[in-house]
Amino acid sequence: MDNQMPVIVGVTGASGSVLAKCTIDRFLECNIPVILTVSSAARIVWEKEMDSSFGEELEKWSSNKNFKFYQIGELAAPIASGTFATRGMVIVPASMSTVAALSQGLSDNLLRRAADVCFKEKRTVVMVPRETPLHAIHLRNLSDLAMMGTTILPPNPAFYLFQNSINDIVEFVVERIMVLFDVKSELPEKMQYKKD
Ligand SMILES: Cc1cc2nc3c(=O)[nH]c(=O)nc-3n(C[C@H](O)[C@H](O)[C@H](O)COP(=O)(O)O)c2cc1C
Repeated sequence: MDNQMPVIVGVTGASGSVLAKCTIDRFLECNIPVILTVSSAARIVWEKEMDSSFGEELEKWSSNKNFKFYQIGELAAPIASGTFATRGMVIVPASMSTVAALSQGLSDNLLRRAADVCFKEKRTVVMVPRETPLHAIHLRNLSDLAMMGTTILPPNPAFYLFQNSINDIVEFVVERIMVLFDVKSELPEKMQYKKD
C-alpha cells in the first residue's frame, strides 16, 4: 500500500480515550498520514479520562505535516466523499451509539459519513467497540457491521501474555490495529507468553 495514503481515525464517546491517543501517535510514528475527527461526546470522555486535554494533544499532532483534523460538523470535508482516497478508517473507541448509527447507515456527522463512505467504497474499516455488558441490540448491530466486512476488535487484554498494566493492553490493541492497516507491527518481538 502507498504509505502516503491517509488513514481516518474517528474517536467517539466510549470509554478508552487512551486507545485513540496511542493509535494516532503510532500511525504518525510510522509516517502514516492521519485524518482525525472526534464526536462531541468523545471530547467529554477525554477530559474525564486523560491527564492532558484534547486541545493540548491536538496542538501537538497539528505540528506534524502528516496530520489533519476536521470538526465533527464539517460535512464538506474531503473524507465525506468517496472520490477522496484513503486506506480506510478505524473508530477507536467506538460507542454503542455510533455502532447503532452505522449499522443503520446513518451519516449525520462527519465521523459517521466518513465510515459510511468507507463501507460503500469497500475500504478497510476497523471498530474498537467499548461497552460492557453488551445487550442483544449491541450484539446485533456489531454482527450486522461484521457481516459487511468491518473488523470488530474489542480492546481485550491478552491473558496469555505478560501484560502488567493498562499501557501493555493499550499497546497490544494498538498493534493489532496497525496489522489490520498493513503497518509493520512490533508485537511479535515484544510478545512474551506466560507459558511456552
Ligand atoms: C465518561 C463517559 C463514559 C462513557 N463510556 C461509554 C462506553 O464505554 N461505551 C458507550 O457505548 N458509551 C459510553 N458513554 C456514552 C456515550 O458517550 C454516549 O452514548 C454518546 O451519545 C455517544 O456519542 P458518539 O457516538 O457520537 O460519540 C460514556 C459517556 C461518558 C460521559
